[in-house]
Amino acid sequence: MTPHQHANDLLAFVDQSPSPWHAVETIEQRLSNQGFQCLHEDNSWQLDAGGRYYVIRDGSSIVSFVCGTQPLAEQGFKIIGAHTDSPGLRVKPNIPVAMDGMLRLAVEIYGGPILATFTDRDLSLAGRVAYQSDQGTVQSGLLHIQRPLLRLPNLAIHMNRSVNEDGLKLQKQFELPLLMTRITQDQLPGAYFLNLLQETLSIDAGRILSWDLNVFDTQPGSFWGAENEFVADSQLDNLASCHAALSALLDEAVLTSGNTLVCAFFDHEEIGSDSHKGAGGSFLSDVLMRISFSLGLSQQQDLPRALAQSFMISADMAHAYQPNFPNAYDPDHKVFVNQGPVIKINANQRYSTESISCAHFASWCQAAGVAFQKYSHRCDLPCGSTIGPILSARLGIRTVDVGNPLWAMHSIRESAGVYDHFNITKVMKTFFAT
Ligand code: CO
Repeated sequence: MTPHQHANDLLAFVDQSPSPWHAVETIEQRLSNQGFQCLHEDNSWQLDAGGRYYVIRDGSSIVSFVCGTQPLAEQGFKIIGAHTDSPGLRVKPNIPVAMDGMLRLAVEIYGGPILATFTDRDLSLAGRVAYQSDQGTVQSGLLHIQRPLLRLPNLAIHMNRSVNEDGLKLQKQFELPLLMTRITQDQLPGAYFLNLLQETLSIDAGRILSWDLNVFDTQPGSFWGAENEFVADSQLDNLASCHAALSALLDEAVLTSGNTLVCAFFDHEEIGSDSHKGAGGSFLSDVLMRISFSLGLSQQQDLPRALAQSFMISADMAHAYQPNFPNAYDPDHKVFVNQGPVIKINANQRYSTESISCAHFASWCQAAGVAFQKYSHRCDLPCGSTIGPILSARLGIRTVDVGNPLWAMHSIRESAGVYDHFNITKVMKTFFAT
């Protein structure tokens, strides 16, 4: 596969995944196409050496793994972690009354999006709807409205004369509701919205009880640049890392390497990971424990031995240098798009990297013939974090934080490099297979 074919597959993957629930569905399809078996947390597991499995928690976090044929207590787990969620807007629980005849959808801010980038875009809704079944049980279904349904029109410059000097500021309570339709006086906004869900889901509106609905951009991903060397899409942070890790796992040489391989993709990273399905929860440790017991390891000796010999790559995007804003970066630690994967380093452990894990990743890059870069944030700006330090602390597993250079992190339209995506996938294959 060429770098452009691989990037094209990335864009298809992202466009098929307009919410974390859809991302997990997309990942599940690819896993089951390659013989991975679905396990449920409420069943007991019988695992075989060489077997391929996945587990989903609450629809939007997924751990997939291959049981190795090598002894786990001596080899440990090879883990790549990433996140399925992206910052943005989520639909509030109650539909407000129409204002001036216009039905507007109230939204809450999820994580830290660049709000101004949500204006004047062809937005729509995707996520999960919970309802009561005929038998009275709680069921859920995925909703994906493909056409542009919503919009946040900008104020004209004639009413906002200083927008280019002061930047676009949106008042979070009053100026974010999304315009949906004009309704007449005898139409109730709540009923109108439920009917819309009913039409899309074929579920009786009266049975709908609640939802987790994400606002997404309907514009598909694209290549850009004079040599088509860049991609632009929504949610590249962090679906690009999920796609790279999954592609590495599903490589036939990797699958048959005999190592115990794990891809762990979590929801809720953008809001701190502290939930039952987030990286701060018990999901991954539960799965690792169950794998080791199913393969006959003892809790007292063998599992700690396996964990002590495990390694995790925490993959999330890095801040690419944007030459129009040179002062935003540490001048000695700029990282450039299409110059290779980035090892992220922070002495305060906002990133989990230390010299040994850094050196391991660097050596896998060298083995794969891939150039790498090192990033350190400006000292006078607060540094972001990832699932790396959280999982590493929870599991006691040596971890490195890496990721590809990305422009406009947390914009609704982010950009990254075609060659970086190809190269980080190569390095991940090397990590898994060796
Ligand atoms: Co991220």
